[in-house]
This record gives sequence, C-alpha cells and structure tokens, in this order.
Amino acid sequence: MKPIITLAGVLLALASACAQAEPIVIKFSHVVADDTPKGKGALMFKRLAEERLPGQVRVEVYPNSTLFGDATELEALRNDEVQLLAPSLAKFEQYTKQLQVFDLPFLFDDIEAVNRFQKRTKGKQLLRSMEDKNITGLAYWHNGMKQLSATRMLRLPSDASGLSFRIQPSAVLEAQFGAVGASTQKIAFADVYDALRTGTVQGAENPWSNIYSKKMHTVQPYIIETDHGVLDYMVVSNTRFWMGMPHKIRFELEAILDEVSFMVNREAEELNSADRERIRQAGTSEIVALTPEERERWREAMRPVWQQFEPVIGADIIKAAETVNR
Ligand code: LMR
Repeated sequence: MKPIITLAGVLLALASACAQAEPIVIKFSHVVADDTPKGKGALMFKRLAEERLPGQVRVEVYPNSTLFGDATELEALRNDEVQLLAPSLAKFEQYTKQLQVFDLPFLFDDIEAVNRFQKRTKGKQLLRSMEDKNITGLAYWHNGMKQLSATRMLRLPSDASGLSFRIQPSAVLEAQFGAVGASTQKIAFADVYDALRTGTVQGAENPWSNIYSKKMHTVQPYIIETDHGVLDYMVVSNTRFWMGMPHKIRFELEAILDEVSFMVNREAEELNSADRERIRQAGTSEIVALTPEERERWREAMRPVWQQFEPVIGADIIKAAETVNR
C-alpha cells in the first residue's frame, strides 16, 4: 500500500524541522558595566557559546540592569524569563542563608583565600544550596575585595558612626554597619550612584571596578582601603531549564563556563588594580590606606557579627571558610 502524504503530515514534519533548527536562546542579564569582571565574563561566554555551538545556541547579554535589576532578576530566573545571572553572593538571602558566609566582615584575608574556599568541598556544596528553589549554581566568579567610601574620612570605626551606608540586601551587611554605629539602606545597584550624589546615603562598600565603572569616586571624597569583605558572584541558571537542555549542548556550555570562569577569576584582581589606579589619577577622592593597627580596630568592631550569624549560616561553614587563610 502506498503511503498517503497528507497536507497536515507535511506541515507537521516542516514544523518539527523548524523547531529543531531554532537555536536555544539564553538571556544573560546582569547589573554592572561591560568593562568589569562580570561584564567581560558574560561577553566571553556569549562569544564562545556561539562560536562552538553555531546555530544551536544564541546568547543575549543584557548589562547595566537593562533587562532585570536587583529586585526582580532572581524571580525572573525562577520563572524562566531569563536563563543566566551572576548575582553577587549577598543577593541570595531569600533562597539560602548559607551563602551569607561570604558577607561576614574580615573572614577572608584576600581574594586568594576566597578562591581556595570556593574550590574546596564546602564551597562547592554551596553551589547546590538552592536547587530546591529551582536555582542551580554553575560557577563562582570573582569581582574583588570591598573598600569603604564616604563623605568623610574614616580611619577608625567610630568615624562611621551616624553615617548611612548603602548596602546590598543582606542582614549580615546590615549588622556589619550596625556594629560601628552606622545605619544602612538597601538600594538596588542601578540607583547607588544617584543615592550617593544626592546624599540619600553618605557611604558605600564596593570593589574598585564597581566604584570606577559607576563613577562613584566622583561623589565620594574618601575611599578607605579596608579590604574588609568580598564581592563575588555565583553564576546561576534555572535548574529545570539547565537540566532540560540536550546533554551534548549542556556539557559543552559547562565546559565553556569553566573556561570563562578561569579567565574571569585570573583577571579580576588585575582589573580592580587598574581601576584603583584610574581613580587615583582622576584625583576626585582621597584613597586612604589604614595602618595595621587601624585596620585591626575595624576588625575587632565588626567581628561579633560572626557569632551573631553562626546559627543561621552554620558553624561548619564558617569554620571551613576560616581555615583557608594562611
Ligand atoms: C552591588 O549591588 O553592589 C553588586 O552586587 C553589583 C554587582 O553585581 O557587582
């Protein structure tokens, strides 16, 4: 019997051929400028993914909160309206308390210590701490150590008393500033420059690359080299989306992410130092180096925050982080 070719059959075959030909679209949204560790990482991921999976994957990068900002991006990820994000580790509080370990002041001596923690068992486990919320951690990306900035010179913790600081949405950061008598306001990253310019807040904490790329040095006369905490990122995807991709494509994208993470993490410190130098040359703010004794005073003042958050973060996680300092 001859096969009967119906119009409906032809249309169905065509539709499925078209469906297969459609590339998987990955929207990668973030809140910083292109010329920062995260911004560069997102663009490198796009380039490599489209080069190595031509026609199969298209990556759309949206920097500077142009698609979603701090307040909406994680819910948008969970709803599959965006497929990749790299929020700062301070922005996951709603989904897990464990990641707050990264916000504890003076816990990590430097970015190398942070790196060691992220590579060890506990650090890797934290990548999976939000899977029950449909959020999968794929990698850690560095930005760098945070510096304080303010409208007045801050040499000792008591100098911060009475000032209001912009913070990311993290109870640890709120407590950190509370410990030195300062108040805080949670403000989305896109609005920080204006909040500093108009005096809504008088201070902030940021790595050099964020200060420079958002011109915060032009509205903060003092930047104090405290290196008191870390601002790093977790690259995350919607668990169902990521696991639902064809295996070959997913494995290739994960290999690309490894490569990009290596590049971001290798170059972040250099980029931050270069931006520190640009800020110094701009001459709009005084860069204040603390003496070891002054820095120790800040550490002593803020250190009680560790005990306060130990029950929520987990003593085992804090201990594991502490041991990475040399
Ligand atoms: C901030 O809100 O200060 C940072 O999380 C911005 C960023 O993504 O680096």
